[in-house]
Amino acid sequence: PFYKSLIGLNQLEEKIRAHFKLKQVIVVAGDSDISPQTKRELGKAGSQVLGKMLRPNDVVAITGGSTLAQVANQLTAPAPLKTNLFVPARGGLGESLDYQANTLASTMAKRTGAHYRLLHVPDHLGEEAFASIMQEPTIREMVKVIRSARIVVHGIGEAAVMARRRKLDEKEIEEMAQEGALAEAFGFYFDKNGSVVHKNQTVGLHLEDIVNTEVVIGVAGGKSKAEAITAIMRFGHDDVLVTDEAAAHDIIAFI
Ligand code: BG6
Repeated sequence: PFYKSLIGLNQLEEKIRAHFKLKQVIVVAGDSDISPQTKRELGKAGSQVLGKMLRPNDVVAITGGSTLAQVANQLTAPAPLKTNLFVPARGGLGESLDYQANTLASTMAKRTGAHYRLLHVPDHLGEEAFASIMQEPTIREMVKVIRSARIVVHGIGEAAVMARRRKLDEKEIEEMAQEGALAEAFGFYFDKNGSVVHKNQTVGLHLEDIVNTEVVIGVAGGKSKAEAITAIMRFGHDDVLVTDEAAAHDIIAFI
């Protein structure tokens, strides 16, 4: 049975990889929605992919979330990554401290002997506050560093779940639903075809940065996220997807 299930996972990986023309897909056994062990395995696989991709002098931008927390907490390096820099992809998104990108960037750096820099700006800003904060030289400089990342590692969420977690008001949540928002990644919301809906001004990575980033790694699993993951893969700018068996089965049903 063990042998058989391994072949099953390989087939899932190859089907998804070929359909979305990704460079690599990794599927771990199980369903992270119900198994903390699977979620840990998902994070571990994510950390291993990142470890393999890293080159000297790379800047790595990462998002927050409970899945990325599993990546961060299991990241290791054979020798100190003295020339690497970990940064948050975006400003704070009102998440709990354990799951904030700032926290995870510093964890990754500390675990691997790399450097980190933080962005102390809330992501959800009004127009005036946004304009004035973007005048700050230290913020401008940090945003420039973030936007220079060669590698982006991100989680994927369901739009409604993420909107609630970020405490958007009911009116905005309703508007988003009407626009067809279904998936969320890097703070942007996407419909089922992977088109961006509901754009906000943001501090950090812009959408065109994701499009131009050399290595984009998505890490997300659980049956509940299958549709959201499919939408982000349709957006089409990931190079590597790390997911789990439960999500993979449903992704294949969607494509
Ligand atoms: C957020 C990221 O912090 O976590 C999002 O900014 C991501 O891009 C989300 O979609 C996923 O969270 P989790 O806890 O489901 O891994």
